[in-house]
Amino acid sequence: MRCANKLVPKPDKVIEKDGVFIVPEVFTFSNDSFPSWCFTAFEERMNSRSGTGQVCITVTRKDDIPKEGYVLEVEEKSIQIFASDERGVIWALTSLYLLAQDGEAACCTVEDSPRYEHRGQSLDCSRHFFTAEEVKKIIEGLALAKINVLHWHLADDQGWRIESKKYPLLQQMSGEYYTQEEIREIDLYARDRGVEVVPEIDMPGHNSALLAAYPQYSCTGEKVEVKKTGGIYPVILCPGKEDTFVFLEDLIKEVSSLFRSKRFHMGGDEAPKDKWKECPDCRKRMAEEGLSSEDDLQGYFSCRVAQTLRALGKTVILWNEGLLTELVPENAQIQYWTLNYRETAEKWAREGKPWIYSDMFELYLDYPHSMTPLKKVFETVPHFGKDNWTGSMLGMESCMWCEHVASGELLEERIFPRVLALAETTWCREGGDYQDFLDRLRKVLDAYDAAGICFTKEDHWDPEGKARRDEAISYMTGSLSQVEPGTKKRAAPSREFVSSFFKKFFKLSDIIFLIKAMIFKK
Ligand code: ACM
Ligand code: ZN
Repeated sequence: MRCANKLVPKPDKVIEKDGVFIVPEVFTFSNDSFPSWCFTAFEERMNSRSGTGQVCITVTRKDDIPKEGYVLEVEEKSIQIFASDERGVIWALTSLYLLAQDGEAACCTVEDSPRYEHRGQSLDCSRHFFTAEEVKKIIEGLALAKINVLHWHLADDQGWRIESKKYPLLQQMSGEYYTQEEIREIDLYARDRGVEVVPEIDMPGHNSALLAAYPQYSCTGEKVEVKKTGGIYPVILCPGKEDTFVFLEDLIKEVSSLFRSKRFHMGGDEAPKDKWKECPDCRKRMAEEGLSSEDDLQGYFSCRVAQTLRALGKTVILWNEGLLTELVPENAQIQYWTLNYRETAEKWAREGKPWIYSDMFELYLDYPHSMTPLKKVFETVPHFGKDNWTGSMLGMESCMWCEHVASGELLEERIFPRVLALAETTWCREGGDYQDFLDRLRKVLDAYDAAGICFTKEDHWDPEGKARRDEAISYMTGSLSQVEPGTKKRAAPSREFVSSFFKKFFKLSDIIFLIKAMIFKK
């Protein structure tokens, strides 16, 4: 098989040459300027392969190669890599590993670099907890596709998952959590694979687990339960109390020190503000700060937390509800997920400010393949309405929420191979040939098999007909029945949202079945 047919994402340029490179028993490195951890993942992957002899990989820094880019020269008896940064070296070795999966590779030169700097996947470990080993498996699967960001959603209504030495009640109330040692180890494991781990602590809403442990930082101080099912709960931090900020500053210092990333996701989505309306502390804060709405109070809250993070050298990311106010933290990055508030996100993008595209109709992988097939992810073109606008877009990210995903196997099947379609569209400047992508994908998935990573099998990548409809309807009815009554208190979805929901996830012919299924709870 020719080199170009063995890689996802498709490289910029491949020049095939005569000769065949045979995988040796031992690789050595000749390297003058990169840290040796750049080779760790390659060495671990190659450990399970056998061969004879020894080959030297020469790694050379070449500053005119774009960020994360590389040149890989595969010769019969030697390998050369040129790159300007660590990730370039890691991606070159990832390509070499994939090219040589069968124990040999046709000699070639690969010249390659990514289109977007943010090629991400989120992972919700609050709604269901996944072990550190499972998280590493997901990271390995992302790294094989040159996805470079794991956005790790670590706290929500259903669980706080980070060991805090200062506030241990947080993890004690939630049960399962990652120790600080495990988090540091995961962060290092990801670094060795070119993956930045961006933690998310969602604030000020989605906070039942935190407030179950420390209810004094809510408006009323009332007892709160760690939630067991999905939904949007009217449980929220109180930005009227100065103590809330003192506590958050302390906690954020501890949490953010566990991660190398210079970014920190502070959420900001789906925050029902009813409690703020009735809270004397919140009213006082609004009067003192001249804030005219609860959305502005959230803006005030975000700016103060962002200030703490800035002092720690971290830039904040916010979901696009963060733009419901003019009070947006300096240098914030906005992650667009819902068209409920599309206009403000569009304005932000048109002003040339940084943002990440994660449209829920195209890039939410918790929806089954029947609702978000592989081809739909592959064909995702960032857009606002009919207008394509990507000027200041940092990249795209697919999201994995886990209210309805309890096993590692299902988690992997939901993410893989759909995230490889995202990898292709965020890496390649040209492309769009789905059949060509599928041909390469089939080959690349051998590496996922070798790593023991589950993925959805080909007959279900783009389901059609009854299989598609049954799965979609059962997902919708199943997930609705798991939401606690009275909790779906999201801001009223716009008509555009409701219409998009049905049009983008269902066909007209499905609607009658959907209504029946909802009524009779099929
Ligand atoms: C989200 O899906 N609430 C960001
Ligand atoms: Zn309050």
